[in-house]
Amino acid sequence: MRLSPVLAATGTYPFVRLEMAKRRLLAQGVPLIDFGKGDPREPTEAFIRQALVDALPEVAPYPLAEGLPELREAVARWCGRRFGVEVDPDTEVVPTYGSKEAIFHLAQVVLDRDGDRRVVVTTEPGYPVPERGALFAGGEVVQMPLLEENSFLPDLDAIPWERAAIVWLNYPNNPTGAVVSLEFLRRAAELAREHGVLLAADEAYTELWFEEPPHSALEVRDVGPVAVFNTLSKRSSMTGYRSGFVVAEPELVAALKQYRPTVGTAPQEFVQRASVVAWGDEDHVERTRERYRRKRDVLLPVLARKGIRVAGSAATMYLWLETPEGETSEDLAQRLLAHGLIVSPGTFFGPAGAGYWRVALVPTLEDCERAATILEEVL
Ligand SMILES: Cc1ncc(COP(=O)(O)O)c(C=O)c1O
Repeated sequence: MRLSPVLAATGTYPFVRLEMAKRRLLAQGVPLIDFGKGDPREPTEAFIRQALVDALPEVAPYPLAEGLPELREAVARWCGRRFGVEVDPDTEVVPTYGSKEAIFHLAQVVLDRDGDRRVVVTTEPGYPVPERGALFAGGEVVQMPLLEENSFLPDLDAIPWERAAIVWLNYPNNPTGAVVSLEFLRRAAELAREHGVLLAADEAYTELWFEEPPHSALEVRDVGPVAVFNTLSKRSSMTGYRSGFVVAEPELVAALKQYRPTVGTAPQEFVQRASVVAWGDEDHVERTRERYRRKRDVLLPVLARKGIRVAGSAATMYLWLETPEGETSEDLAQRLLAHGLIVSPGTFFGPAGAGYWRVALVPTLEDCERAATILEEVL
């Protein structure tokens, strides 16, 4: 059988490899504390679970790609409350099955594979999905390095705007935890407008922050063409529910509504009803932030004592850490794994991640305390 050469070229998703290593160790009876994948293990709050249960019907028909009006309205209200922007729930919002699939699919909807603008710009180290979506859509990917000396922001002047169809930004950034200023977003949106490029903002982590609430590209919608992707996965600890949204200009939203019935990725309506409740409440999000803060506070002192520099890490659930002198991020990850700690080597996120490792603050507070003791000995 012949398979897609794009599939062969992308290789195994790095976290699948980590999962396999983890299973091997668990089978050997090694107790593990998993700071690898960014999958929250916080409980989804009871009132959200109850909303899902209450919405579970006897007959559950296919959900429509356009989503329930109640959910689109809840999203529009949330964008207004959180970022002070007006969003039309009928023409500017599409609910998505989490944000990953929508991020992956964007290039399918926007790219003309035979046109002269096939470039999709992504950032590196980074979440691999925008790149993979672009490749499967026949695009050419240009990866902009995120360097610490540039505060983990891409050099906007080095982006090939004339050849680009989509420029992706991801702030707060996975894996670096870096945040973006409103000025930077405004400048990016201006350049996008000048060159007729779509600025796509993956904002999965805007609600997990430690000091100040991060900005959104929603705030520069009036400057240039912007598509914003957000999700309940991290904000409300609902990864398994699969619920997010895209907000964009009406033309793109209409195109998404035309495309998405074919791929069938609308969230189930009972999930959509639970999502209405989740977007409508901020108290549980503050509780979630507080839990991440406490875990971070358990780990930071031992890292400081060991001379491990924390880079970025102003928001998200991640710590982006420099690797000790003379050790690669893979070697360090292997060394920690042997002591039962799973972390991600920076190179999981692309070659530009060399020299760093990522800690996802997902284990319980107690496990973070145990991990701090292990790090005290091992580092
Ligand atoms: C940067 C980034 N964007 C998007 C997502 C997708 O999240 P979801 O599909 O659960 O909404 C993730 C998940 O880890 C992520 O790290």
